[in-house]
Amino acid sequence: MDPLRGRHIVLGVAGSVAAYKAADVARRLTAAGAQVTAVLTAGAQRFITPLTLTALTGRPALTDPFDLPSGSMPHLDLAKNAAAILVAPASANLLARLAAGSADDLLTSLILASRAPVILAPAMHEPMWTHPATQRNVETVRGFGYRLVGPERGPLASGDQGLGRMADPESIVDALSRSL
Ligand SMILES: Cc1cc2nc3c(=O)[nH]c(=O)nc-3n(C[C@H](O)[C@H](O)[C@H](O)COP(=O)(O)O)c2cc1C
Repeated sequence: MDPLRGRHIVLGVAGSVAAYKAADVARRLTAAGAQVTAVLTAGAQRFITPLTLTALTGRPALTDPFDLPSGSMPHLDLAKNAAAILVAPASANLLARLAAGSADDLLTSLILASRAPVILAPAMHEPMWTHPATQRNVETVRGFGYRLVGPERGPLASGDQGLGRMADPESIVDALSRSL
């Protein structure tokens, strides 16, 4: 049986031009039987709408830690119920916020509050990826036990070739399945 079947997965989406590929990741997770809750950062919402992810997952996509429709706290509920947290794409800024232990939006708050496996799929322009600050942040989050998938070398959104392209959705979902 698919390890994703019936599992609750948080799909975090950060502010990268690769955010449109989160729709494919959401579709694959849902097709594998996972219950997917998408959580978008403010940056992500400049690239993809919560509506797209709500439609693909069949569950409301979340953005606001202060929106308490049922009176409960979404960051704690999601943190407790998630079998895994996947962030695809993970921006340089998100990596910095995670490395600092920030809880300044719903996604970072729930990651801090959860002990579920965290899988990050970075996507950025090569100079952002290779900058010592980003590499230091990557080492820090690896030290927390977070796993990284990619980035890969190939054509980037800027038109350049380089290292920084988000891993393809199929490999990301495979890596997530193996972590469960
Ligand atoms: C057109 C455009 C494309 C961008 N692409 C990326 C990207 O691929 N990776 C990245 O780390 N930042 C990228 N950025 C910068 C982020 O969107 C910015 O750092 C943002 O604050 C990230 O917010 P977050 O923490 O919500 O992800 C891009 C910005 C613009 C305007």
